[in-house]
Amino acid sequence: MKLCRLIILSVMLFLFGLTAPAYAKITVTVAHTHVETHPQHKAFLVFKNYIENEIGDRYEIQIYPNGLAGSNEQVFSLVKLNSIQFMAISASLLENSSKQYAIFSVPYLFRSEEIYELFIRDPEVIAELQAQEKRKFFRPLSAFTAGTRNFYASFPIRTVDDLKDRNFRVQIGRNTGLMMEAFGANDYVMSFKDVYPALKKGVVDGAENNELALVDQRHGEICKYYSYDGHQMIPDMLIGSEEFLSSLSPEDYAVFQAAAMEAQRVEIREWKSRVKKAIKQAEEMGVSFIKVDSESFRKKVLHLHNSLLSDNPAIRKLYVITLKYQ
Ligand code: GCU
Repeated sequence: MKLCRLIILSVMLFLFGLTAPAYAKITVTVAHTHVETHPQHKAFLVFKNYIENEIGDRYEIQIYPNGLAGSNEQVFSLVKLNSIQFMAISASLLENSSKQYAIFSVPYLFRSEEIYELFIRDPEVIAELQAQEKRKFFRPLSAFTAGTRNFYASFPIRTVDDLKDRNFRVQIGRNTGLMMEAFGANDYVMSFKDVYPALKKGVVDGAENNELALVDQRHGEICKYYSYDGHQMIPDMLIGSEEFLSSLSPEDYAVFQAAAMEAQRVEIREWKSRVKKAIKQAEEMGVSFIKVDSESFRKKVLHLHNSLLSDNPAIRKLYVITLKYQ
């Protein structure tokens, strides 16, 4: 009888061993709000492939683009709860949780996109951002460029005075509010996904973003004038759930971190060519691109630098790092 049981047990173990894996794969969810031609989507595909090539026996990465998983604000809450593990989120939306991110909304902080890209790739910068407290429930792994933010509207903006008393959608954040006040314009804070309906209904006269928003978010259907004043360069941070990241072994964590760096490299590489294409597509939609005297816009807000730095000590260390690139 005992022998019979032993044989049955051995047969079951043998069959189980053949049919089921030793452990189930962990599904890792990634969400973002952009369309599939956006450099960030390409970067997340690289992120996925890198991880699955290295440790795909244990992790499967699922990407939800196009805001399928919800707005940036909703997904951010889910990342903090570890219901979604990774997302790309504008540094502006992180300012309330961690004051260091306000460095990016300081207007005219970088002299060129090249300098800004060097800054966001600088290991000292990501290390400083990662040094935030663990109880923020998220951790940045790298930063994606989101180009330069410029004003666009249903009317042409040729000088700073053209902004006066007009209503613009902006991202949340004290620095941005003060910048708009210095420009003499009214700021309307709203979620990225709400900008198109707000433009369409005339709730706002315009918005400010990179060129891709004209095409990918269809803002160019309403706003036919895009002016190169270049007031901010704000990255989208690739962040992960703190609960998920701190549950990883050091070896697996190193793979996720390396994948994020590789994703950043590809995203920055793709950015310029995608912008060129978007400009062409926007022109076909009837959008005119206006070169303005950006120096006159800059002069209007430059006095803010000192007060922004003294009011928020959390950005000082990062500000000092920007100086090595000036
Ligand atoms: C950029 C960025 C988005 C962000 C958006 C915004 O386009 O890539 O992720 O949410 O600006 O203005 O809200």
